[in-house]
Amino acid sequence: MEERILSTELTLEDIEYDKSLRPRKLVEFIGQVKIKEHLNVYISATKNRSEPLDHVLLSGPPGLGKTTLAGIIANELGVNIRVTSGPALERAGDLAAILTNLEVGDVLFIDEIHRLSRIVEEILYPAMEDFELDIIIGKGPSARSLRLGVPRFTLVGATTRTGLITSPLRDRFGVVARLDYYMVDELEDIVRRSASILKVEIDSAGAHEVARRSRGTPRVANRLLKRVRDYAEVKCDGVINKNVANEALSFFEVDSKGLDRLDQKILLTLIDKFKGKPVGLNTLATAVGEESDTIEDVYEPYLLQLGFLMRTPRGRIITEKAYEHLGIEYEKDNLTLF
Ligand SMILES: Nc1ncnc2c1ncn2[C@@H]1O[C@H](COP(=O)(O)OP(=O)(O)OP(=O)(O)O)[C@@H](O)[C@H]1O
Ligand SMILES: [Mg+2]
Repeated sequence: MEERILSTELTLEDIEYDKSLRPRKLVEFIGQVKIKEHLNVYISATKNRSEPLDHVLLSGPPGLGKTTLAGIIANELGVNIRVTSGPALERAGDLAAILTNLEVGDVLFIDEIHRLSRIVEEILYPAMEDFELDIIIGKGPSARSLRLGVPRFTLVGATTRTGLITSPLRDRFGVVARLDYYMVDELEDIVRRSASILKVEIDSAGAHEVARRSRGTPRVANRLLKRVRDYAEVKCDGVINKNVANEALSFFEVDSKGLDRLDQKILLTLIDKFKGKPVGLNTLATAVGEESDTIEDVYEPYLLQLGFLMRTPRGRIITEKAYEHLGIEYEKDNLTLF
């Protein structure tokens, strides 16, 4: 697959930069004001009572700061964090081994928690609720079940798909927070913060240009900043202002709303091939040559957020706003009302 500069998915380069760019404290975490306020209260109360924090479920699209917040929670509580993920916990024993090795108050971070296997998920219920594990030892007639205490810990779960979390699991989280796409001014602050860590000179108009094309996503903002920096170093004197940012972003084929060729292909397909009529997800995916999951998780959320696409019971519909953005005349007759 073609590498997408605007992809919200984690790349190796992101992981390398994550260490330096990732906020470590709640005050360094930009935006998501309500979530921060709530977490601040819970964390302070927990510390005053010297009790572990309630389990926290963080949900939201990729790159919005779920892993970052998990780290911040552990850091603010002054406890260790143990990191794993739904798919990595294959057998009940994998989870049991991790849980029994935790210290009181530790944070266990389970990324992609919607991908836990049923068996592991069932082991997790009593662990979350009563800090107990039921494990079966041996096989056949001699098998017996053993109840084991585990240290009081805080589970922080992250998911990009809240809809896939079973309700018994969701019900066991005391704190449920949904991260939203960031506003442009928040992304501007993120760009400026990252630029100062990376020692890149950028003015506020330059930061604004990068921010407004970042698809509401800090991971994309940081990635665009790095690409624009490369461009500025090679083509100019390294300083990023409005012009340099604009030139660099058109060089990388990122348009004024942060759409790249693949987003545009989706919109143009809906216009040219389907004449603005409602189209089912699978049909659309086949027409643009992508997996339907990728369309749904990666491309569509931002197009919906921009108001370029609508989801209706009859399929995806392109909006007048999208025609305007692409500079294509809107023909109302094309649309079948739903
Ligand atoms: N609120 C924020 N303020 C500053 N930087 C942020 C913020 N949120 C995220 N970032 C930056 O964006 C990057 C991506 O965030 P993070 O890895 O936490 O996203 P995520 O929600 O866990 O994504 P995924 O679903 O792919 O795991 C981080 O490295 C961090 O530098
Ligand atoms: Mg993450």
